[in-house]
This record gives sequence, structure tokens and C-alpha cells, in this order.
Amino acid sequence: MKLLKDKVLQEGIVLSDHVLKVDAFLNHQIDPALMLAVGEEFASRFAKDGVTKVLTIESSGIAPAVMTALQLKVPLLFARKQKSLTLRDDIFTEKVYSFTKRETSEITVSRKFLSPEDRVLVIDDFLANGEAAFGLARIVQQAGAHVCGIGIVIEKAFQPGSQKLQAAGYRVESLVRIASLTDRQIVFAEDAEDVRVQ
Ligand code: G4P
Repeated sequence: MKLLKDKVLQEGIVLSDHVLKVDAFLNHQIDPALMLAVGEEFASRFAKDGVTKVLTIESSGIAPAVMTALQLKVPLLFARKQKSLTLRDDIFTEKVYSFTKRETSEITVSRKFLSPEDRVLVIDDFLANGEAAFGLARIVQQAGAHVCGIGIVIEKAFQPGSQKLQAAGYRVESLVRIASLTDRQIVFAEDAEDVRVQ
């Protein structure tokens, strides 16, 4: 997606060999026109999949996911990260470990909003090790619903998330794939000779 690639090049800041800061348009300040284009792109890629619900995780997944849901004319549901204060039986719960943040969070979704008839498109802002996407997919499975696929705004293709999700049978659609952030250079997978997963 050229618009997104250009934005990543213009406003992305490489913090380390592993981390790209995109708080100018995705993770803090949000570019609504870009998010609308992102939503249109995901909606067209999954137009024939009979999606009934878009599922993401707070907070940075919400902007691209809501635009996707708008285009697909279905509701957006986001998993919450707050710990529930009491054990409750009206929620689906999964644990998600973040390698980037080195912490485990509990994600929850109300049982009220997912049912076995649902065909769910999972959307997230970043794909690194795939933990968040797997956690969301496990919640869909708990509900007995179907995962149509996983849409990612920025995939770090040098980390194993995409491979692991595809090996588990999920369709992964990433709008940009980054092969490397080494030496403060952003190299896209389509421009790289090879993509080395670390
Ligand atoms: P994974 O789900 O693919 O395994 O990724 P990981 O645990 O490593 O990511 C944890 C958090 O860090 C996620 O945000 C993810 O979006 C973010 N993240 C991962 N790599 C990058 C990166 O290179 N740049 C930026 N900007 N973020 C990255 P989160 O905890 O869900 O936070 P938020 O959605 O509230 O922003």
C-alpha cells in the first residue's frame, strides 16, 4: 500500500533494530484520512469472506479496525486489557505476552458480543511475534466463531509472527511488510533481497 509506505518513510522513526515509532499517525496522533484508506484496503481484501464482526485490541488497533468495520458495514469489537476486578463468567479471557513490553496482560471480551455464527476479521496495528493476534484468535475460538483472517497495518517480517500465524492456518494480510530496521534504515520486504526472521 503505497500511501502507507510513504507515510512510514516520511514520519516513522527507527528507535532500534526492532522498534519503529509511528506515533505521528498511528500510535498516538492518528491520521484519519490514512486510516480511512487502510480500512478501505482491508475491506476490499476481505470483501468476499462474509465478515460479520471486526475484532481488535485496545488501544492502537481501534483506529484502523473501526475504519475497516465502517467499510464492511459490521460492528467493531475491541478486546480490553484492564484486569477485571472480580472473576466473571460473562467474559472470554486470554493471556497475551508481549515480548516488546516484556509483560503479560489479560485481554477480555464480553460473551454478549461474540457468538458461534460470527465470522470475525482480526485487525491490529503491528505484528511482531504474533502474541496479540493469537490471543484474539483464541477468544474467537472460545466463542465457537470463525476467524476469516488477520489484517495487519505494519508487519515486522523479520519477527516470526506472520510465519507462526500462517503455519497455524490463518490468512494474514499485511499492508506493509518491513524486512529490516538495521542501521536506522527502513527496508520494506518487497525491496529486500531476502527477509531474515530473527
Ligand atoms: P505481538 O503481539 O505481535 O507478539 O507483538 P508484541 O507483543 O511484541 O507487541 C506488544 C505491543 O508493542 C503492541 O502494542 C504492539 O502494537 C507494539 N509494538 C510491537 N512492535 C512495535 C514497533 O516496532 N513499534 C511500535 N510502535 N509498536 C510496536 P500494545 O501493547 O497493544 O499497545 P497499544 O496498542 O496500546 O499501543
